[in-house]
Amino acid sequence: MKTKKILVLHGPNLNLLGYRELSLYGPLSLQKINTHLKKIAQKQKYTLLSYQSNVEGALVTKIQKWALKVDGILINPAAYTHTSIAIRDALLAVGIPTVEVHLSNIYKREPFRKHSLISDVVHGQVIGFGAKSYELGLEALIQTIERQRA
Ligand code: DQA
Repeated sequence: MKTKKILVLHGPNLNLLGYRELSLYGPLSLQKINTHLKKIAQKQKYTLLSYQSNVEGALVTKIQKWALKVDGILINPAAYTHTSIAIRDALLAVGIPTVEVHLSNIYKREPFRKHSLISDVVHGQVIGFGAKSYELGLEALIQTIERQRA
């Protein structure tokens, strides 16, 4: 049987996790988060591919190229959450199960962060739990994929 795959996408400045605004985003590096997610995925017989970029077009290209090869997408578009029609359009175009995650609670922050341009095209959001948002989001995504297959 074909191994199931999940693509985890991280937007701009998330490569600085562990250094940047620790009180908001927590002490864990992106590498640590990815390693932890890979282990969780493996236990459920999923392969996890992760990609971070500070460039909007690179994230769009990744979504386009990988959509046919993966079963779902876990995405934290970071600042592009609030600005990127291109990422929204790419997710709509590929139409595979997608879960949006944020480390911080974007609804408790500055007004410009309160709107996500992808919230209505994803299956759901997990926000405000630090690195745990990714873990919970991954579990929710796997459940969504499994339900679609049943
Ligand atoms: C973020 C929230 C965004 O508003 C911000 O630009 C980020 C991180 C989060 O995970 O809390 O870079 O997506």
